Amino acid sequence: MKNNFYRFQEPAPSEITPQSIATARRQFLQQLAIGTMTASSLSHSAWAENTSSTKPLSARPNMIYTAKDKPTSFTDATTYNNFYEFGMDKSDPAVTAKSLKTHPWTVQIDGEIKKPLTLDVDSLLKLAPLEERLYRLRCVEGWSMVIPWVGFSFSELIRKIEPTGNAKYVEFTTLADPKQMPGVGSRVLNWPYTEGLRIDEANHPLTMLVMGMYGQTLTNQNGAPVRIIVPWKYGFKSAKSLVRIRFTEKPPITAWNRSAPEEYGFYANVNPEVDHPRWSQATERRIGEDGLFNKKRATMMFNGYPEVASLYSGMNLRKFY
Ligand code: MTE
Repeated sequence: MKNNFYRFQEPAPSEITPQSIATARRQFLQQLAIGTMTASSLSHSAWAENTSSTKPLSARPNMIYTAKDKPTSFTDATTYNNFYEFGMDKSDPAVTAKSLKTHPWTVQIDGEIKKPLTLDVDSLLKLAPLEERLYRLRCVEGWSMVIPWVGFSFSELIRKIEPTGNAKYVEFTTLADPKQMPGVGSRVLNWPYTEGLRIDEANHPLTMLVMGMYGQTLTNQNGAPVRIIVPWKYGFKSAKSLVRIRFTEKPPITAWNRSAPEEYGFYANVNPEVDHPRWSQATERRIGEDGLFNKKRATMMFNGYPEVASLYSGMNLRKFY
């Protein structure tokens, strides 16, 4: 059967204006025109302040993986962040992550693979054609965003590094440098931040190795220079600023699972039917939709990506949450 996954119209590379740049620019101009951009959001200007260390990164839009939802504004996506290495408040990372040095940067790839290697970000960028995909990301705290990510399926990397037959899981380790990251001194987690996927979850075409967003390289607060995005799982599975990817035979211990196993399971699928021990997961607040008349949205099973359900057939998702 023909795989229509990469079925793009083939514009000349020079003709490609990343959809996200157009959308973000349009939103920016609309906000200016209708006067909803406040003095403070202007001083936090998306284009001036939040992009100081980013570069344009063009990619072909993946029409199959473009959510119908309205994209979150660039300003919201870059000023409302969870990145505990840079502080506990949502507004902290936009300020404190500015000093993160993302160049040079390498990612160690090892464990159960035929040829362990270390790749710099430029090599990672060349590993496969870059795509732009509009994905929802839901946080276990009950809010969600819709972000145009730039990268490619993580399966492209798996294919290139040839895992051994023992590779059953993938562990992601992120940078923990107390000199650059003020939050690493805190006891909120046992650093470094680590996360993990089963190999078939990692191989699912939706799982994305991400180097950019909104047509440019990642901002530091969103996990520059490289992160993972798993759109059907709670945001905490989407580890930022990766330094190591290790293929393992045993399930890796993840940072959240270690700190609160009864609250943050290994699978962490978005599942409105399984409550977090301290709150319901049935609804969510879409960032940017706040306001008196905006109702919370009903959360969708697997965050609205039903194609992943077969990965969990036969599993009791209350037990394996
Ligand atoms: N990665 C690292 N290294 N440190 C973190 O604190 N927070 C996670 C995830 N990845 C986190 C991380 C959580 S809880 C969420 S919801 C998402 O990043 C938020 O991603 P965003 O700020 O790009 O929206």
